[in-house]
Amino acid sequence: MIDYADKMIRNKPLHGIFTAVPRRYDLVNHVITWGLDKRWRWKAARECLASQPEKVLDLCCGTGDLAINIARLAENGVELTGVDYSRPMLAIATQKAELLAKGRRISFTYGDADNLPFPDGYFDSIGISFAFRNLTYKNPLAQRHIAEILRILSTGGKCVIVETSQPRLKLIRKLFHLYLRWFVFGLGYLFSGNRGAYHYLAESAARFYTAEELKEILATAGFSQVSFRPLFFGTVGIYVAVKKEPPGFSYKPEKRS
Ligand SMILES: C[S@@+](CC[C@H](N)C(=O)[O-])C[C@H]1O[C@@H](n2cnc3c(N)ncnc32)[C@H](O)[C@@H]1O
Repeated sequence: MIDYADKMIRNKPLHGIFTAVPRRYDLVNHVITWGLDKRWRWKAARECLASQPEKVLDLCCGTGDLAINIARLAENGVELTGVDYSRPMLAIATQKAELLAKGRRISFTYGDADNLPFPDGYFDSIGISFAFRNLTYKNPLAQRHIAEILRILSTGGKCVIVETSQPRLKLIRKLFHLYLRWFVFGLGYLFSGNRGAYHYLAESAARFYTAEELKEILATAGFSQVSFRPLFFGTVGIYVAVKKEPPGFSYKPEKRS
């Protein structure tokens, strides 16, 4: 049975794209990034675990690769969750995790980033791989998505974003955009048969924020210590941002007797 919330999600603009592409989604990703996407997610997973969190979320987990990398690297006892609004993606994630997560349990949950099904401050680390662009690029709910990330992150908790970026050097930037608009679009279309999905991917990546712009957006939203590490000539990068203390907060250590 489809409930009201389900119906609302189905009507969202990008939802159709992400329920249509999963069959060849992983293969296309590996081909268009020359296999480097695996390495980028692994680096992001390490970053998600760097401050020894107890509860980690893979937001917009898709077919689960970031969550699976985190599961393979995490200490026992870390609670792992993945959330996405595409049921076909979640079905693949669940199957893959059974084979690849080294027996670690990942709870894959259906939910929308504009109304996440978790309590305030629940996670101390949130990773987002190649989905922050979907949540923010020309998305009327961009602010709402960022506010939700902040709501479910504990104070001092970390948000790790691995995402396409804009190379600083003009020549490399131009080549990157050509690569996106011809190779990524053409190959994605050919392999998946979904023209719209790969047109959207190529255009949104070519027009997405520079690292400086995105750092500014995160800082303005309420994150501190926002950093960016460029990867592969700056075509991709990893952002790390920490949720700030609320205004007026001052830490007073307990007196020891
Ligand atoms: C480009 S895929 C990235 C998937 C995965 N994180 C990866 O690294 O391959 C974007 C994912 O975000 C999900 N997504 C997009 N908008 C969403 C939203 N508002 N709420 C929940 N999931 C969303 C899509 O269903 C899709 O699985």
